[in-house]
Amino acid sequence: VGAEYAPAVVVGSGYGAAVAALRLGEAGVRTLVLEMGRLWDTPAADGRVHCSMTAPDRRSMWFKTRTEAPLATFLWLDVINKDITPYPGVLDRVRFPNMSVYVGRGVGGGSLVNGGMAVTPSRAYFQEVLPQVDAAAMYATYFPLARRMLGAATVPSAWFESTEWYQYARVSRDQAKAAGLKTVFVPNVYDFDYMQREAAGAVPKSALAQEVIYGNNFGKRSLDKTYLPAALGTGNVTIRTLSRVRAIRRAADGTYLLTVDRLDDTGAVVATDEISCRSLFLGAGSLGTTELLLRARETGALPALSPQVGQGWGGNGNVMLGRANHMWHPTGAHQSTIPVLGIDDWSNAANPVFAEIAPLPAGIETWASLYLAITRNPERGTFTYDAAKDSAVLNWTGAQSDPSIAAAKSLFDRVNAANGTIYRYDLFGDTRAFAADFCYHPLGGCVLGRATDPYGRALGYDRLYVTDGSLVPGSIGVNPFVTITALAERTMARVLAEDNVG
Ligand code: FDA
Repeated sequence: VGAEYAPAVVVGSGYGAAVAALRLGEAGVRTLVLEMGRLWDTPAADGRVHCSMTAPDRRSMWFKTRTEAPLATFLWLDVINKDITPYPGVLDRVRFPNMSVYVGRGVGGGSLVNGGMAVTPSRAYFQEVLPQVDAAAMYATYFPLARRMLGAATVPSAWFESTEWYQYARVSRDQAKAAGLKTVFVPNVYDFDYMQREAAGAVPKSALAQEVIYGNNFGKRSLDKTYLPAALGTGNVTIRTLSRVRAIRRAADGTYLLTVDRLDDTGAVVATDEISCRSLFLGAGSLGTTELLLRARETGALPALSPQVGQGWGGNGNVMLGRANHMWHPTGAHQSTIPVLGIDDWSNAANPVFAEIAPLPAGIETWASLYLAITRNPERGTFTYDAAKDSAVLNWTGAQSDPSIAAAKSLFDRVNAANGTIYRYDLFGDTRAFAADFCYHPLGGCVLGRATDPYGRALGYDRLYVTDGSLVPGSIGVNPFVTITALAERTMARVLAEDNVG
């Protein structure tokens, strides 16, 4: 029996993959999307598709027996994580020594679990990070296109200033201002009209009901509401779920051959498909794409891949921290899960930091201010292929996170000094104030212009493309999905114009 054939295959269904699928479909190329996670469109017995952060069940995490939330404890109490039944849930925490990486699993990838912050990087920093990319075209064409396609919008300021749901953000803004720091409104893909109707009690709550990292039942324009239905609407795109690509090789005639494991709800491999394609687009994310290419190179399946595959990884300098406010500065029992403000000190040459003002939606007053700081950490990790486990291992030492912590500390020491406040030491399972051993923003591994040409074409092979966060060399200074989407749009425009992919 010959392998099943599709002219184009897209691996994954996150940002880079969704862009590839839509543009291939529009170009008339029959395209098969292979996604290891589920399609999240069917309500469970409780009437909901996703579970909330405060009452997690098996839908929360990717084959775990206990949830592994970023905030591990509250007042050092193990009250956050819950035992669950292993299931192909929507959020994964991939653990490497010294660094855990959070990723979304399912049709829509990270868009299912993320906070929806749709941020365009500063042009100066973008040019510094990706000098081989024409910034003029990015800022005139591809960033605006990405923001429009993703549905980015800014919270209406009058409502922001008056609603109890953003008291936590206003408190953090005042405290930043007291330290002489600037805050900026950050666009988001959450529907703010819907959020205001949530607040008015007119519609079922999502952002206002502690939903985010395990999925939003309403309001969020995740990729399964934007790019992916548009891709399916072309009539040329099919999405196959619970299909994990394990291996890639090349046949004598130049087609790619994929070995794809079909998973059931217990994680068991119930079938293994062989799928062949003429053109292969990798959108499995920084970890997924890097692992597939590293494995292909190291096992000899695609030996001509660049030695740069597996290099240049960073977690966007992510650090999470909390501050303890005075009793007279409550942050509110009611907190929207959708962040809309950031402390923007990126232009501080000595210590650039962009800190998202994050919610701590516990449902009770905590007097805590939470932040996800993005810092300019120059350290880079590398992946090595572990043949015994047939997997990629990230080499990242604990000390490589120190620059991130030092930068965040420098900024938030100022905030604390100006407000007479201190850090929270009870949130990360021990007595740390700063958590830099996990990240939300994995970037790099197949860096643009190093492991690929300047348009994401993998060096060494024809019609093999990288379209996701693995292209970005470890840091972009803001939350990354707008950049990933815009780069993928740029790649697809070029590839469909120049390469014969169908
Ligand atoms: P992405 O990770 O989105 O998609 C990869 C897909 O490929 C996944 O669906 C995965 O299941 C699938 N896959 C992987 N390996 C596979 C294989 N072998 N076979 C088949 N399928 C495979 N960013 C931002 O800009 N603003 C924000 O507010 C946030 N907030 C945030 C919160 C949280 C909790 C997280 C975890 C992340 C964020 N992010 C974020 C980060 C953002 O979500 C992330 O940068 C993008 O999703 C990355 O997009 P990619 O296209 O690179 O891959």
